[in-house]
Amino acid sequence: MSAQLIDGKAASAQVLAEVAADVALLKAEGIEPALAVVLVGDDPASHVYVRNKVLRAGEVGILSLEHRLPADTTAAAVLEVITALNADPAVHGILVQLPLPSHIDENLVLQAIDPRKDVDGFHSENVGGLSQGRAVLTPCTPAGCMRLLRDTLGDLRGKHAVVIGRSNIVGKPMAALLLAADCTVTVLHSRSNKPQKLSGQADIVIAAVGRPRMIGADWIKPGAVVIDVGINRIEEDGRNRLVGDVDFDAVLPIAAAITPVPGGVGPMTIALLMQNTVTAARQQQSATSALAAAEESACPSVC
Ligand code: GUN
Repeated sequence: MSAQLIDGKAASAQVLAEVAADVALLKAEGIEPALAVVLVGDDPASHVYVRNKVLRAGEVGILSLEHRLPADTTAAAVLEVITALNADPAVHGILVQLPLPSHIDENLVLQAIDPRKDVDGFHSENVGGLSQGRAVLTPCTPAGCMRLLRDTLGDLRGKHAVVIGRSNIVGKPMAALLLAADCTVTVLHSRSNKPQKLSGQADIVIAAVGRPRMIGADWIKPGAVVIDVGINRIEEDGRNRLVGDVDFDAVLPIAAAITPVPGGVGPMTIALLMQNTVTAARQQQSATSALAAAEESACPSVC
């Protein structure tokens, strides 16, 4: 048996086509969705991610505004940029690429973003909304994984899902989304006892540990669906390669379906970021229209 390959490129193309159609509708109403991307420092991987985000935005008709700041930028200067973007009605989404240089408190910066423009879904207001099942802007990578799972399995109710990793960006929001989809959820982390045993009982395994090929065949139940969030750069046979957190070759004959790396979760993250930008633009437009209507009824234009 060989697992079905879950094609993240094809799924992301579908999401991007939906987003492009929504962008066209917004533009017909006079709204140009705009995403501000803030990049601080010289991290090469972050530069690649930001370039890809800007490229995708252009492809679906979203205006992107890049703010590239040197590595020695102070936290106060980053906060100043965010304050200006929060106040700008032409900006609908704000993304601060992580990691930030170590002298900047990441949490301070993320909390400064207006939650309505927080297209990463990292602000505590959005995290709280997600944990209470009333999320509007959800973190892009877990949201992309959910889309792949629904495309592959349909109804997720009652499935036992194991999330390996408990980061704020992936593990925790992933667990919240699976719970909201009525899965039975187990979160494994570096202090878990017998993690292979627990993971080996799961119908769905989400690997988000950031360690190349850590999840081997002994972690996977025959017929499970495996989503590999890892993107690890390694040197192998004199070549630079991208590999996931899952030992792909070992798990392929066991799983029912698996995402490859690259070409699995990665493209979905960017597609869901574009979707969040459109959602944010639509929400802000509705809020502005509701405010204008309330003002008009309180004080009609004749007054
Ligand atoms: N760095 C790695 N993943 C992400 C992400 O999803 N959003 C942001 N802003 N930075 C990241």
